Amino acid sequence: AVPPVLFVIAAYLIGSISFAIVVSRAMKMSDPRSYGSGNPGATNVLRSGKKLAAVLTLLGDALKGMLIVLAAKLAGLDDTWVAAVAIAVTVGHMWPIFFRFQGGKGVATAAGVLLTLDWRLGLAALAVWIAVAALTKLSSLAAILTAVAAPLLCHWLVPNRPAIFGAVLAIAALLVQRHKRNLLNLLAGTEGKIGQKAKTDA
Ligand code: G3P
Repeated sequence: AVPPVLFVIAAYLIGSISFAIVVSRAMKMSDPRSYGSGNPGATNVLRSGKKLAAVLTLLGDALKGMLIVLAAKLAGLDDTWVAAVAIAVTVGHMWPIFFRFQGGKGVATAAGVLLTLDWRLGLAALAVWIAVAALTKLSSLAAILTAVAAPLLCHWLVPNRPAIFGAVLAIAALLVQRHKRNLLNLLAGTEGKIGQKAKTDA
């Protein structure tokens, strides 16, 4: 059998593939780190005005989280190792080895991770994100409130799984930490709405 630690290393490496950057290069667009919030993520790629690129970024970043957690589960890893894999893929996205450790905020990847850890937890978290996003048109606020809700939802929907709860709590904390700039913008009332275009050089 494959040693569990290899799943954790693979999770970090797969997480390090930034689909915002890969998709933008493939579609000959500006680097997402050069416009808008500068964040390599689907929300910022959408600011280029290219919806397809944003959707592909969202899917790629979510699928990488899904794939590696699914692989860990199918390999029969116990909750502690699955939790480590879930955290590692998120950490890879946020601090990617391929992009000088300057990655994204982890929202799409965390969504994929949650859906695969437990589909009811994933759907509940998704519902919170969609509700806040629909009401406010603020992607970052939706992410932050979902991160706050996720550990509570995990406690109710996935009871008595301390390692899984720990992973959700850790991922949520990292995600909020990555949104510091957004929090300041939200408080200052300067945060942009979803889909508002940014100036790009291509
Ligand atoms: O998905 C990240 C989102 O919550 C915030 O992204 O580009 O608005 O900082 P951004």
